[in-house]
Amino acid sequence: MYTQSLNTAVQRDGAEEDPQKLAAFQAKIDREEKIEPNDWMPAAYRKTLIRQISQHAHSEIVGMLPEGNWITRAPSLKRKAALLAKVQDEGGHGLYLYSAAETLGISREEMVEQLHTGKAKYSSIFNYPTLNWADVGAVGWLVDGAAIMNQIPLCRCSYGPYARAMIRICKEESFHQRQGYELLLTMMKGSEDQRQMVQDAVNRLWWPALMMFGPSDKDSVNTADSMRWKIKRFTNDELRQKFVDATVPQAEVLGITLPDPDLRFDEESGHYVYGEPNWEEFYNSIKGNGICNKQRLKDRVKAHTDGAWVREAALAYARKERERREAGKQAAE
Ligand SMILES: [Fe+2]
Ligand SMILES: [Fe+2]
Repeated sequence: MYTQSLNTAVQRDGAEEDPQKLAAFQAKIDREEKIEPNDWMPAAYRKTLIRQISQHAHSEIVGMLPEGNWITRAPSLKRKAALLAKVQDEGGHGLYLYSAAETLGISREEMVEQLHTGKAKYSSIFNYPTLNWADVGAVGWLVDGAAIMNQIPLCRCSYGPYARAMIRICKEESFHQRQGYELLLTMMKGSEDQRQMVQDAVNRLWWPALMMFGPSDKDSVNTADSMRWKIKRFTNDELRQKFVDATVPQAEVLGITLPDPDLRFDEESGHYVYGEPNWEEFYNSIKGNGICNKQRLKDRVKAHTDGAWVREAALAYARKERERREAGKQAAE
């Protein structure tokens, strides 16, 4: 917990902000200087960041589940080692992000509680099942690929601890994307059945990957503030377009068809035009009614409960160490 180190009083939610402090804060952001944990910040900025960073942390942790499912069934030692490393990386990303959120005055326990009671959200993509081995490749290629598009601009986020955590995370996400794409390329060079597995995985994951960027700008409630505060650098639709533009040529190299009849290259704009995702499906999943929501939460809560002895053992060890140190000090006196 880092919250003890906070020197500034946390502003009450909804209270009037001091206009002078607010202007100095915005000027600092406009100069591209980082906001650090002990700096003054408006309550709404703190609240937005706590929500965003904790949701991000939850997504990393829940994101371990769909692929963790395949570790015991990986087809070779090489694939198993890569998948194991990737899933462990996601656990690490969750930990950096929980730590970054703690610098804003919320405890890890509180965030975990919010996740387990369904109060906090995580990325809707992890509520889809991973049905065949090609899903592991498609998740790496599309899901980590979309995550990179979202996360690279976050390395320049105005909040220092979040921006710094994102630098290492992005490097690891890049490895995740490559291992996924390479896995799919290998399968495409295999049998007809393997090629069909790849196509099937992409058919199921393409649209959910596009939804990872969040609702369209016209329906996005948080975008304007986040852009002004330089938490976000691009809108949801801008990021989605970047992702489509980068991914369609990769699909061609792979030799698969993307499941969108409206997808075409527009010479005039130099961008790919794509169809409308099924937003009803997205909101349904966000509300907790996606295909795997209940399973994911159940597995997450079970993992936490099963791990209680580890937390207890760590605390007992820390207590014994402290007692030993104190006893040593007294003996020396
Ligand atoms: Fe990650
Ligand atoms: Fe990843």
